[in-house]
Amino acid sequence: MAEASTATRRVAAVLTSLEPSATLAVDAAAKQLRQDGVPVISFGAGEPDFPTPDPIVEAAIAACRDPAMHHYTPTAGLPALRAAICAKTSRDSGFDATADRVIVTNGAKHAVFTALTALLDPGDEVLIPSPYWTTYPEVARLVGGKPVAVVTTPASGFLASVADLEAARTERTKVLIFNSPCNPTGSVYPAALVTQIGQWAAANDLWVLCDEIYEHLVFGDTVQTSMPVAVPELEGRAIIVNGVAKTYAMTGWRIGWLIGPTDVIDAATTFQSQVTSNISNISQRAALAALEGDLSAVAEMRAAFDRRRTTMTSMLNAIDGVTCVVPDGAFYCFPDVTGLLGRELSGHRVTTTAELAEALLATAHVATVPGEAFGAPGHLRLSSAISDADLVEGVHRIAQFAAG
Ligand SMILES: Cc1ncc(COP(=O)(O)O)c(C=O)c1O
Repeated sequence: MAEASTATRRVAAVLTSLEPSATLAVDAAAKQLRQDGVPVISFGAGEPDFPTPDPIVEAAIAACRDPAMHHYTPTAGLPALRAAICAKTSRDSGFDATADRVIVTNGAKHAVFTALTALLDPGDEVLIPSPYWTTYPEVARLVGGKPVAVVTTPASGFLASVADLEAARTERTKVLIFNSPCNPTGSVYPAALVTQIGQWAAANDLWVLCDEIYEHLVFGDTVQTSMPVAVPELEGRAIIVNGVAKTYAMTGWRIGWLIGPTDVIDAATTFQSQVTSNISNISQRAALAALEGDLSAVAEMRAAFDRRRTTMTSMLNAIDGVTCVVPDGAFYCFPDVTGLLGRELSGHRVTTTAELAEALLATAHVATVPGEAFGAPGHLRLSSAISDADLVEGVHRIAQFAAG
């Protein structure tokens, strides 16, 4: 069929080809079914199942009462918050920056969008190790870039090597997106590999966009390494994306940020001044209280996620046709379920993981996100940000479904 002409097309082509967020869609479908009275257990959510700690909430209430917070504030963020982001980053990863290198955004998702808008010209290529967070390729495409997936597998612990990345690099490659700990696989790059990849990026004049949103969610002896700290030669070409969502159970408050060279931050601030003005002052004050406080909330959550990853992986690995790598970080399991495809499962014969996720929701009332959303068909993503009891019941239902 001929493409609609500019005059007849109601919605811009760039948006009609944009994929909706699969994770948000699964979450919405699960919530809707629950509202309809179906006892759904959802492994879809990418957010901690804890309330935001009280002192943070109190700071927001105080901000509501402060008339200075009732008006526009600087586009790049409240000065105190930008300073606190620098102090926090220096404390947690060892990366030192000044406040003029920080812009506060509407969540880390918005930081990724802003960073790629600031960096990409049409046709510029973005290397994205796959499985990847579902937003990266869509946003790269949205701003005119070309996402290039670099496939990794369970055999390598879902870690890309320099050779994998080099094989995907072309003259048009501009940015590497580096997410460790990784959503959806939970893989965490060891320090030596972070250094090798960073040195390779620096040697090839690439930019690195380091999404460190899960920095505090690493388990056992695992250590998160910030690439621009390990490879100072990346100075001038490194962007750090982070936020309060996962560390302080603040997904709904929508505060993230990016740290980068001043030319990128200045360009991003000009862009933001035309698009959003400033980010909500109330949320910024809440984020400030979070960053000025200690890390006790995340320590508590980390203990729960650690316990649950062990339970979840051992229960999943006990299901015939399912194998699951034990994640070192974040709060997801990403089992390989190809052994279930093509088999008779509780009256369903599914051939893709998208169909499997649909059948699980309809029949076992368990919501999962199919691997297709992360560039990795054959897998399901299960969040462990769910109560221990629901987690056990939910995986039990999957086991019964697979055995039925
Ligand atoms: C890897 C990664 N980066 C960024 C985000 C977005 O965080 P925020 O809620 O701050 O936008 C998520 C959320 O799921 C994520 O998994």
